[in-house]
Amino acid sequence: MKLVKLIANLGYGSRKEVTAMFREGRITNAQGEVLYADDQVAHHEIRLDDEPLDPPSGLLLMLHKPIGYTCSTKDQGELIYDLLPPRFRLRSPAVSSIGRLDRDTSGLLLMTDDGVLLHRISSPKHKLAKIYEVTLARDLQGNEAEIFASGKLQLVSEREPLAPAQMTVINSRQARLTLTEGRYHQVRRMFAAVGNHVEALHRPQVGGLTLGDLMVAEWRLLDDADRQQLFAQPAA
Ligand code: URA
Repeated sequence: MKLVKLIANLGYGSRKEVTAMFREGRITNAQGEVLYADDQVAHHEIRLDDEPLDPPSGLLLMLHKPIGYTCSTKDQGELIYDLLPPRFRLRSPAVSSIGRLDRDTSGLLLMTDDGVLLHRISSPKHKLAKIYEVTLARDLQGNEAEIFASGKLQLVSEREPLAPAQMTVINSRQARLTLTEGRYHQVRRMFAAVGNHVEALHRPQVGGLTLGDLMVAEWRLLDDADRQQLFAQPAA
């Protein structure tokens, strides 16, 4: 790919703006030698204002989503993209969240520009576990785990019953729920279906990947080891 297009696709500017960056000598190789738009240089060798470029397409990152942020590019209010470098919103291919967490849900949110990876993580066919910690308005009744595990729970306006989900009780008003699908407001609707109400919802883990020491509102790129951990089965 031509260097101007490569750099413009990373969101650093329009092709016209990136062409100007070449003219101004702001784009160099790792040794500080000025590059020209027609040069053939590997992505990792390129520097813009002496800084390495953002990762090429195929990136996967995790964000510790705070409460109050929306998984959208253009809703009103605070958006998950506000927590990333502004140019990430301008990349091509686009970086999007893998599934969504509600505005009032916190936790581990994956984002990628890789459509195959997005499908592999979000498709219920692949049964990747999404683990939620749920705080409830009312005491658990004792039959919820059995109902959720049955594979027969039918939510209002859904055609298919939910896939079996595993619930473990933490205390009378807190539970841990493992889902392998991601229907709209699924956790909140599951507890509504058994006569309860979700007061707080947090996702600490997807597959075998946990938030670790990532603080609220922080994000980090995932490397090969993280990807392996993601696709490993979570500890029961
Ligand atoms: N289920 C919900 O109800 N909300 C979320 O954010 C995620 C799963």
